[in-house]
Amino acid sequence: MTEPKLEQTLVLIKPDALKNSLTGYVLSQYSEFHTGLRFAGAKIVNVTRMLAEEHYVEHRDKPFFFALSDYIRGKVHYPDAPDKRRVIALVYHGLDAIRKVRDIAGPTNPHKARDTRPGCIRALGTVVPVMDESGKIIADRLDNLIHASATPAEAEREIKLWFRPVDIPPLMRIYPAVLCQEHFYFKDDRLFTEHEVGSTLLMAPGEIVWQSDLEVVQAIAKGAPAAYTLQAVAAKYLINALPEND
Ligand code: CDP
Ligand code: MG
Repeated sequence: MTEPKLEQTLVLIKPDALKNSLTGYVLSQYSEFHTGLRFAGAKIVNVTRMLAEEHYVEHRDKPFFFALSDYIRGKVHYPDAPDKRRVIALVYHGLDAIRKVRDIAGPTNPHKARDTRPGCIRALGTVVPVMDESGKIIADRLDNLIHASATPAEAEREIKLWFRPVDIPPLMRIYPAVLCQEHFYFKDDRLFTEHEVGSTLLMAPGEIVWQSDLEVVQAIAKGAPAAYTLQAVAAKYLINALPEND
């Protein structure tokens, strides 16, 4: 048996769970008493298109992608109440955190979850057909109440996408964070190193940032290849910044 590793994992309490008042249930399923895991981060997030598309980037070409984006953004469950569109983003910290959290979540498809793992969180979800413009069913949207990172690489990418280092207590950070010495701004999907009218500040001198994010923006500023996209850095700096109207 391999030694259990100290890990962090991202959990999102999705809009269907919030609408059905399942937050307390999810939190109690993942309580330290039951799992041995501790909270490392928590925030309420109105999910922008950019964040949704970055979070689910691996599913970009799937037939359910746009339905999934609308779902995580709360547009499906709160079509007439944009102010209620939010998810609760959590980082859990502890030994074997990724497997423990996925296990309690259960299978991705709520029908399968009910059949094979009755009692798991996703057994309480629903399956909704996705149709094309002609009304033909092209996929299923799986409203499965929570997201949970699947692998250590996914957990690192996702935690850095949703959280800044300062959202996590310093002694609980497991990914390298460094002091930024430059300015970086974002506007119209582009990076600037000086302020542009209408741009958003991403990083400023004196700020603690993820080392990998800093390396990405430094590379992009030089026109060099970067390990990931500017959008993957920018999305978290735009969390709860401005409302979207689509
Ligand atoms: O969330 P998990 O890692 O278990 O599954 P995934 O395959 O990475 O898919 C991500 C999310 O896309 C799921 O949790 C579902 O909400 C959604 N999905 C969907 O709506 N329809 C599908 N046919 C497959 C996934
Ligand atoms: Mg997944």
